[in-house]
Amino acid sequence: MLTNSIPVKIAIIGGSGLNDPDILKNRKEKFIKTPYGDPSDALIFGNIDDVEVILLARHDRKHTTMPTNVNYRANIWALKQEGVTHILATTATGSLQEHIKPGDLVLLSSFIDRTTKRLQTFHDGESCHPLGVCHLPMEPAFSEPLRQTVLSTAKSLDIPIHEKGTVVAVEGPRFSSLAESLMFKQWGGDVINMTTVPEVVLAKEAGILYISLALATDYDCWRETGEKVTVVDVLKTFKNNVDKVIKLITALVPIINKGSWDEHVKELRDCVQQSVMVPK
Ligand code: ADE
Repeated sequence: MLTNSIPVKIAIIGGSGLNDPDILKNRKEKFIKTPYGDPSDALIFGNIDDVEVILLARHDRKHTTMPTNVNYRANIWALKQEGVTHILATTATGSLQEHIKPGDLVLLSSFIDRTTKRLQTFHDGESCHPLGVCHLPMEPAFSEPLRQTVLSTAKSLDIPIHEKGTVVAVEGPRFSSLAESLMFKQWGGDVINMTTVPEVVLAKEAGILYISLALATDYDCWRETGEKVTVVDVLKTFKNNVDKVIKLITALVPIINKGSWDEHVKELRDCVQQSVMVPK
């Protein structure tokens, strides 16, 4: 096994449909406080294939927190406090492209931000929070080395996956109008959801390698056939396809744990450090 001077610690952020701690053995719950308030729920510590991982239900385990009210900063800060180096996020998404069918997996590679009410930085000028102003580059938004690991693992398991995809992150909680949906499609969006921003931004600012496995659950409302997304469809399609998400994550954990990540974590942390303008 390769040794990493920064110990690998993997967290899974489960979205709608994957907030089930049953994928972990020997579970223990820990409620954490952060300078940004409380995370969505307890961090669940447990094992996958003898590797300790942390599971966090983005919307809490009862799914009572709407996307706008998820405390993304507390969630990511809590994971950073626990020494997390890698985040595997899952998310239900609408498809904006015919060839991405409900039930398909998309490994996100970029985003278009249409959120309006969310804090996107830890460096907010408040006392007790990190100093300075952070102008973080968003290309790449997702960790490329970690994305490559996901792709090779999916390939070895014969799990079909769209290798890249741009997600349009909307404020919600409502779904999009027809005009919006057509516009997002024209903009080059591949899928649409309500949570990737600011989660991916904050993970990067926290120096954590982050990928997101998007499961397409519906065709939003842009198709001429007239179908329109409903919550029932989203949950049903996620439930019917969650097994392949779990299979992929379960295989990924020991592979990531055995990998050599120092260079990538250091490169990311250097990038973050260079992005902060500290007061003179
Ligand atoms: N999550 C799942 N499907 C969605 C859609 N069509 N729009 C926004 N978020 C979603």
